[in-house]
Amino acid sequence: HDQLLFLYNGIPYPTTFCSPEVFKALESFEARSDDVILAGYPKSGTNWLSQILNDLIDISQKKTPGREGSANAKELAEFPYLEVGDAEKYERMTKLPSPRFIVTHLRPENLPKSIFKNKVKILLLIRNPKDVATSSYHFSNSMASLPSYETWDDFFTNFTTKKVPWGCYLEYLSEWNKYIDKENIMTVTYEEVKENRALSVKNIAAFFGIPLTEEELQLVVERSSFQSMKKNSEKTHGPMGNIFFRKGGVSDWKNLFSEDQNKKMDKVFEELLGGTKIGKKLKYDLYCK
Ligand code: A3P
Repeated sequence: HDQLLFLYNGIPYPTTFCSPEVFKALESFEARSDDVILAGYPKSGTNWLSQILNDLIDISQKKTPGREGSANAKELAEFPYLEVGDAEKYERMTKLPSPRFIVTHLRPENLPKSIFKNKVKILLLIRNPKDVATSSYHFSNSMASLPSYETWDDFFTNFTTKKVPWGCYLEYLSEWNKYIDKENIMTVTYEEVKENRALSVKNIAAFFGIPLTEEELQLVVERSSFQSMKKNSEKTHGPMGNIFFRKGGVSDWKNLFSEDQNKKMDKVFEELLGGTKIGKKLKYDLYCK
């Protein structure tokens, strides 16, 4: 595992995707007030919400005079994950047309200061921690560049002792909880999007100030179904794309967690997130018990 991860500010990151040079360069990244940012811990559904946001941006661009078809043009696009790439990425990003779409797995304290200074709108995506752990375990074992685990127990130990890429998810949540009341941040849960995709898409579009016709709404909703995204995964994510679309449901953790592991996670959740706003939004008792 040690070769696949490196520590930065005390948090482990995967060597294949991130580097200390990129983190250094990122500090001086200049965010634009019209950037569209999606923040989410790995495996909380970031590819799903990216699909929704990209479609919303496309729709809005097509209606902006002079911008039709220009923004998000494939040849200009950068890999949207903010902390993934080479150190020159941020220089190239200065040439991208607005609005730039940006995804990040980082905690707020590790994000460039300009994002908060310029009051950039952030969609914060959260998912119940037991399903995140479950999804993460399966994903790590299907991706060669991430550490793999012989058993679920082995993974669970690493997950709870903070030795997983992008650090401890419960700490991630408790850091983001400090920002939850800021007006430029909208929080959405994986489970609520799963429950009512149309309503979520409507609310997200409204938050970013993107008007939608009923027809456009239906299109975004259809294109973001699990079946449709899985079917297109080779086109959107390359030959191994299907690993990003495993089950796409709620409560798969019940197939992995032991009684003892449930107790452990419930205890840490209570310690770090009990009584917090973000904890309430997650509906832990409903989805994790
Ligand atoms: P599972 O492993 O539980 O199936 P990320 O995109 O952040 O890597 O998150 C991946 C998780 O989101 C996976 O969870 C994946 O199946 C799920 N997911 C991706 N697209 C989805 C969709 N359209 N609807 C529901 N879940 C989706």
